[in-house]
Amino acid sequence: MNIDAILSGAETPALPEGHFISGAYTGLGAEVLESFDAGRGQPFGRFANGSAEDVDRAVLDARRAFRDSWRHTAPADRGRILMRAAMLIRARAEELALVECLDCGKPISEARGDVGGAARAFEYYAGACDKLQGDTFPLPRGYLGYSHYEPVGVTAHVIPWNFPISTAARGIAPALAAGCAVVAKPAEQTPFSALMLAGILYEAGLPAGVCNVVTGLGRDTGAALVAHPQVDQITFTGSVGTGQTVMRAAADNVTRLVLELGGKSPVVVLDDCDQDQAIDGVLGAIYEHAGQVCSAGSRLVIERGIHDQFVERLSRRAAQLSIGHGLRDPKLGPVNSPEQLEKIGGFVDRARARGAEVLTGGAATVDPETGAGWFYEPTIIADRPRDDELVQEEIFGPVLTVQIAEDAEHALSLADDSSFGLVAGLYTSDITEGLRLARDLDVGQVFINEYFAGGIEVPFGGNRMSGFGREKGLEGMKSYTKLKSVVAKID
Ligand code: NAI
Ligand code: MG
Repeated sequence: MNIDAILSGAETPALPEGHFISGAYTGLGAEVLESFDAGRGQPFGRFANGSAEDVDRAVLDARRAFRDSWRHTAPADRGRILMRAAMLIRARAEELALVECLDCGKPISEARGDVGGAARAFEYYAGACDKLQGDTFPLPRGYLGYSHYEPVGVTAHVIPWNFPISTAARGIAPALAAGCAVVAKPAEQTPFSALMLAGILYEAGLPAGVCNVVTGLGRDTGAALVAHPQVDQITFTGSVGTGQTVMRAAADNVTRLVLELGGKSPVVVLDDCDQDQAIDGVLGAIYEHAGQVCSAGSRLVIERGIHDQFVERLSRRAAQLSIGHGLRDPKLGPVNSPEQLEKIGGFVDRARARGAEVLTGGAATVDPETGAGWFYEPTIIADRPRDDELVQEEIFGPVLTVQIAEDAEHALSLADDSSFGLVAGLYTSDITEGLRLARDLDVGQVFINEYFAGGIEVPFGGNRMSGFGREKGLEGMKSYTKLKSVVAKID
């Protein structure tokens, strides 16, 4: 990869043009939007703004493909196609990672990790296609009762800009594995990797129409998709407000729904932890993808006994993180848009006005090599009370807020005092204490001694305002099925 040639614009990756419907890219069409490279703050590629007609065409085509082919394709054959798709993703990993890095800004090594994760999702669900078994029921003699899973039909996937290819893959792979046909709508900030993924699936042997992708604005294309009466299930990942709008639209057609709406996740650090391990963990939890992660560890809940020393070391490390364009693989890449930059700055500026102490960072910045791009310094804010907006609101940027706990019980109460309930991290060398806290926390997933530990095998999703339903794991496949029970009188 010639980074300088790409950054100077002399080399540009080939991008798909138009929506992907019925096994082909449609061409850009009349209404075209621009996607930006956040690391340079410059337009990067053009994509189509889908109309309600485009959405309708994609959904009806998916319905046809579901009815005529995919639902009848033998599960083992579905598995073979998904496995071929995983191999093609791996074969084209560098190209996909490059586009992901430029389109959403994240450091190239993180983008490579996401592409590898997308391949894993297809491998995992490829193997699951022919293992989705039903049950039999212990009825009185004379009756036979059994159940089996049927594909739910056409599934809609509304994808955010922070993990474009991984969110697409973790929804599309289990939906296809279950026998559903898919219409995906990537975010308007990051449309390209989902389009490329659809092309790869087609190349892997997926019949035309089984996976369609329509790009465009959320309020137009996204709204048309989630309101479409021929959509049987919606998987939405994004903000709480938009999730609520999607839920209302789903109510009109009684469409099934999985909502993954982000969080304000705590990293609980107890006195007895391995501090080196915990410092690395806390840094990764908040600064991966510049904090634009639904499950970012954005609150450090730390016992008073080690607070001073730990936070001082942590702040020093945060201040030293390299910043730059994603292609140069810094520790901290840009934030996705000027709107995000402004939103993050607003939180920190308001906190300062309330008298909060900024331990490190606290300002917007630029790529030091080019003077361009949308960056925010790695920021840590000293101890804030429970009701502070920095403790309660999702910032979606590289801003960590500290909360001091008197003991483990107090830490648990601080950790849980949130309207969100997505994930929590725990650092302790007392594994029994860790498991006890894991039991008592009201969140969907707990990481002990390694934040973000796990993989596609582990179900993921939130409680309370973080949403409902679970993605990943075998549990994630069930969202795309409907259970049918049959009882026969046999004598
Ligand atoms: P958003 O929730 O509006 O966008 C997410 C997706 O929903 C995009 O594909 C968008 O096009 C689509 N969308 C927007 N309006 C829609 C509608 N009416 N009907 C159907 N689909 C629609 O989030 P946005 O505005 O990009 O980011 C705002 C904030 O949301 C962020 O600052 C962050 O706090 C949060 N967020 C959380 C994410 C998570 O992973 N949980 C991901 C993205 C954003
Ligand atoms: Mg972009």
